Amino acid sequence: MDSIIVTGGGPLNGEILIAGAKNACLALMPATLLSEEPLTLTNAPRLSDIKTMTELLQSLGAEISTLDEGRVLVLSSHSADNPLAHYDIVRKMRASNLVLGPLLARHGKAVVSLPGGCAIGARPMDIHVTALEAMGAVIELKDGYLHAEAKGGLKGAVIDFHFASVGATENVMMAATLAKGTTVINNAAREPEIVDLADCLRRMGAQISGDGTSSITIEGVERLHGATHPVVTDRIELGTYMLAPAFAGGEVELIGGRIDLLQAFVEKLDQIGVDVTETKRGLKVKRRSDKLKAVDIVTEPFPGFPTDLQAQMMALLCTAKGTSVLEEKIFENRFMHAPELVRMGANIEVHGGHATVTGVDKLKGAPVMATDLRASVSLILAGLAAEGETVISRVYHLDRGYEHVVAKLRGVGAQIKRVKSNG
Ligand code: EPU
Repeated sequence: MDSIIVTGGGPLNGEILIAGAKNACLALMPATLLSEEPLTLTNAPRLSDIKTMTELLQSLGAEISTLDEGRVLVLSSHSADNPLAHYDIVRKMRASNLVLGPLLARHGKAVVSLPGGCAIGARPMDIHVTALEAMGAVIELKDGYLHAEAKGGLKGAVIDFHFASVGATENVMMAATLAKGTTVINNAAREPEIVDLADCLRRMGAQISGDGTSSITIEGVERLHGATHPVVTDRIELGTYMLAPAFAGGEVELIGGRIDLLQAFVEKLDQIGVDVTETKRGLKVKRRSDKLKAVDIVTEPFPGFPTDLQAQMMALLCTAKGTSVLEEKIFENRFMHAPELVRMGANIEVHGGHATVTGVDKLKGAPVMATDLRASVSLILAGLAAEGETVISRVYHLDRGYEHVVAKLRGVGAQIKRVKSNG
């Protein structure tokens, strides 16, 4: 198992190219199941989660090839005939559940393993299931698998989500493209990844409107055709690297960055004392002074502050002046980075869904353990500004969501390396 070693210091200067969004690409790839013709995705990120989705779709009969060192994915489902998403693959990645809607739309039948719990929370699938049932599917849970069937095909329905689930919006949107009649999703998720999926489905011939708002309307069509679609910029990778100069000083330009992807996050950075300016190629980030200010953060569905940037922001606030309260409203167990940050000298108290962070002067390097994707990267960021060496173990989590993290940070002057270790 590899470790990452970061030696604190600074400043960081230069530019970082932001990749296509993992969470958009994971939703776009299953859209291949909706058409007999090929779907080409450009600007795809090179990540282990993308490999897992590739493996899953191949197990369903899709053919997938890559071009340009993995940045282009060509997916073809003309001979995809297997409706069974096996536990062996699904358990590796919750986003595997995004094949449920497309499989049902294509075969009128799907057998998809439940993903099980994951480190950040229980993450049930009730919203997906209730919505697909409203569209005429009969769904039963047997032996850990959801057995779904829609004899005679799915039918359009008006669906009211009790929570704006990203995955359920994506699943239902895909299923509805080929359903008979009109589907309306109320309280739909508004994330940029939803808009990206809707854009791609429209390129394939789907009739979708309202994406990016809380009410999405999908008119079912007979068939979808092939298309080529560029994956939207990864706003979470963007936000993560925007924080690097906030930790270590200097000025970094994020190529491909857009403020509209991260408005709530950028507003918090301004309050903390970090300037973000738009450039022709993206965004430039620089802190206003060495001492940052504490702020309170509440994670919320888009356009609120993203849960996927909470860990990284908590790490930054560890050395801000004053006390910050972070409230996690999306996942019930997403503070696993807190005890690791405490090992680096942070002052953090966690009570249920709240974490109180009282700023200390400096963090100190320590051996720490990555517990999930975003927690891992928060420890790297903390290491950039800590005194001495931070050794992060279990970094395989990082490979799920950050391509070439070491090279990207080295490129702006960070002292960071990846080593093989036995731990
Ligand atoms: N939820 C339910 N029932 C459901 C679905 C969701 O109770 O049927 C709950 C979940 O348990 C969770 C909350 O609703 O507490 C949010 O879940 P949502 O469905 O919105 O999230 P997701 O689709 O499972 C995606 C991202 C996550 C990101 C969340 C929230 C992908 C592949 N994953 O997950 O990304 O945190 O939206 O924005 O798109 C990450 O990249 O690190 C990551 C965890």
